[in-house]
Amino acid sequence: MGVDVLLGLQWGDEGKGKIVDVLAGNYAIVSRFQGGPNAGHTLEFDGIKHVLHQIPSGVFRKNISNVIGNGVVLDPVVFMEEVEELKKYNLDLRENLHISKRAQLILPIHRLLDAAQEAAKGEKKIGSTLRGIGPTYQDKVGRHGIRVGDIVADNFRSKYDELTNRHKISLDYLKFEYDLDAYEDEFFKAIEFLKTFRLSDTENYINDAIRQKKSILAEGAQGSLLDIDFGSYPFVTSSNTMAAGACTGLGVAPSAINEVFGIFKAYCTRVGSGPFPTELLDETGEKLRKEGAEYGATTGRPRRCGWLDLPALKYAITINGVTQLFMMKADVLNSFSEIKVCTHYKFPDGSQSDALTYDSLSQDIEPIYKSFQGWGNLDVDKNTAFHDLPDPLKNYIQYLEGELDTPINIISFGPDRSETMIRN
Ligand code: GDP
Ligand code: IMO
Ligand code: MG
Repeated sequence: MGVDVLLGLQWGDEGKGKIVDVLAGNYAIVSRFQGGPNAGHTLEFDGIKHVLHQIPSGVFRKNISNVIGNGVVLDPVVFMEEVEELKKYNLDLRENLHISKRAQLILPIHRLLDAAQEAAKGEKKIGSTLRGIGPTYQDKVGRHGIRVGDIVADNFRSKYDELTNRHKISLDYLKFEYDLDAYEDEFFKAIEFLKTFRLSDTENYINDAIRQKKSILAEGAQGSLLDIDFGSYPFVTSSNTMAAGACTGLGVAPSAINEVFGIFKAYCTRVGSGPFPTELLDETGEKLRKEGAEYGATTGRPRRCGWLDLPALKYAITINGVTQLFMMKADVLNSFSEIKVCTHYKFPDGSQSDALTYDSLSQDIEPIYKSFQGWGNLDVDKNTAFHDLPDPLKNYIQYLEGELDTPINIISFGPDRSETMIRN
């Protein structure tokens, strides 16, 4: 009953899509509350591999509803493509998918602005996914954005033209060359397509479900270290990726939140620019990338790889009030004889700290590591009991539980739905 939130504790791509799909059967509703097509959530089951960008990861489970909440920025063109790709599975999306009228629309000009702003930043670019996320949230906060509910109004076209023309001035100022016509044809086709779905006051739908004692799973996108307030600013995304974002991004009260599931990889990755204290630029980092197939699900970019960062993880657990941890991709470390965990940051003045603060990520940090013995090839399936795991893996998990003061209740050892150990 009430809302459980599942979110990434690192820099995204922790495996949120996989675990939402695993857990979705326990819920009446799965909902996205922030972000947009910058997300790439991968699901694997029954020989199917599918990447979702805006549609919630509960979509493959029968008898549940999926909600795209008000906190999301929705690209109608990407939405139409996603629905096309899901056609072969015969899902009844027009019945089971509810889209908030309050969600902001990503317009063609937002994608162009994203590209123009990144190009203008040069070396200092954020490494955005170029999906128009930042400019769309800028318009939301600037109070001239266009929302899903606006598409049925008579003045939609004039609103669209007004906002687009306003931004053309910026593109010209940035000397950015563009061809909007091709994008616009597709966009207006996608708008007509979007009109055929359930566009509604999803906050009422969700709160009615809460009153009826139904359970709701809120699916985070990105990760806590990309949060607009608490992430490695300015190398962040433009939304609140943290648990509190589920309240504003769905219209539910803080008192409606029950569990907060925090998901992390047994190591760390990051895609895009910005600080990454435990990044490995050597052959160990390359091995992590290869073993973990660490390439972006949305952009295909190679992900930067490194060891687990405890100060950052503790920080993420704190700001989210995480009640349960889920550790992903344990199998990726199978072939490592030594596994390291960063316990402290050492600063240029020689001081050390086990906490992430405002100042820490802007300095040249040397990570202090603790070493663990590797666990070798895992011979496990979903029926394996925790006590039957190899001792070095149990040792790793128990150490983390102690340091993080939070139980690790799911251990994932492969991309497939079935490769998941749920404890208790
Ligand atoms: P998300 O954005 O958090 O949903 O994660 P992504 O889908 O972007 O990236 C996670 C990647 O790891 C995907 O390719 C998943 O199929 C894969 N994956 C998830 N869990 C595991 C796991 O336990 N082991 C392995 N080897 N791969 C996993
Ligand atoms: P999921 O939900 C990993 C990163 C981008 C860039 C920064 C800002 O799949 O975990 P944006 O396009 O949001 O303006 O980019 O955030 N980023 C992600 N990294 N996983 C994601 O989503 C991401 N969404 C955005 O690479 O560094
Ligand atoms: Mg992803």
